[in-house]
Amino acid sequence: MRTSAIIVAAGSGSRLAVGQPKAFVTVGGRTMLCHSLSTVAALAELVEVVVTVPGAMENEARAEARRAGLNVPVKVTEGGAERQDSVRIALGLTSAESELVVIHDAARPFAPLALFERCIEAAVRSGAAIAAIPAADTLKRVEERRILETVPRAGLYQAQTPQAFRRQLLIAAHEHARTRRISATDDADLVERLGEIVEIVEASALNLKITTRSDLEIAEAIAATLAR
Ligand code: C5P
Repeated sequence: MRTSAIIVAAGSGSRLAVGQPKAFVTVGGRTMLCHSLSTVAALAELVEVVVTVPGAMENEARAEARRAGLNVPVKVTEGGAERQDSVRIALGLTSAESELVVIHDAARPFAPLALFERCIEAAVRSGAAIAAIPAADTLKRVEERRILETVPRAGLYQAQTPQAFRRQLLIAAHEHARTRRISATDDADLVERLGEIVEIVEASALNLKITTRSDLEIAEAIAATLAR
């Protein structure tokens, strides 16, 4: 199926506090954005890539796309206030000829090509599929540093990206969310709210999301291991 990739990279990275937008921070000698762009560059049936960036970073993003060796059109746009707004803006720029959209957070630079492929394969079959890992820790609901309850972790997964959807389904989910003022931290949630099934593709903790300085240290260690 003809596929558009959306890389959301418009976050400010305030929790990382390195003085530049997170997606432009280097890990293993390349920006996080470049890692994701080079991975999606190898996808079969890729027709285009849409990238959301903070305002004034458009040219830097285009330079990263050249570095990543993409040989499909790359559309770069300023993102929105929240991640969901960024995805909606990017989705609006995807070409009508594409049948499938795969969304990925630039903050996860190590998502392997095979994980993208498995999510896409599942979405071709069932409409929607996301990378996720089973919750490994015991989970507590906490308020003001006090535990309210222990949440049984059986059947609980942590959602990651990539997340792949039939394009028309994702457009319908975002439109439904916009008209009802629903906000969500991932796209699967918006599709779930339409009552549609979303499949899980089991991923690995190596598909780390970089949020804090210590995540960045772990990421450098992962990059060094992968380079060996
Ligand atoms: O902030 P967080 O790391 O959860 O964001 C997840 C992804 O969404 C990141 O890759 C970030 O750049 C992107 N994002 C975005 N637009 C926003 C906020 C986050 O594209 N307004």
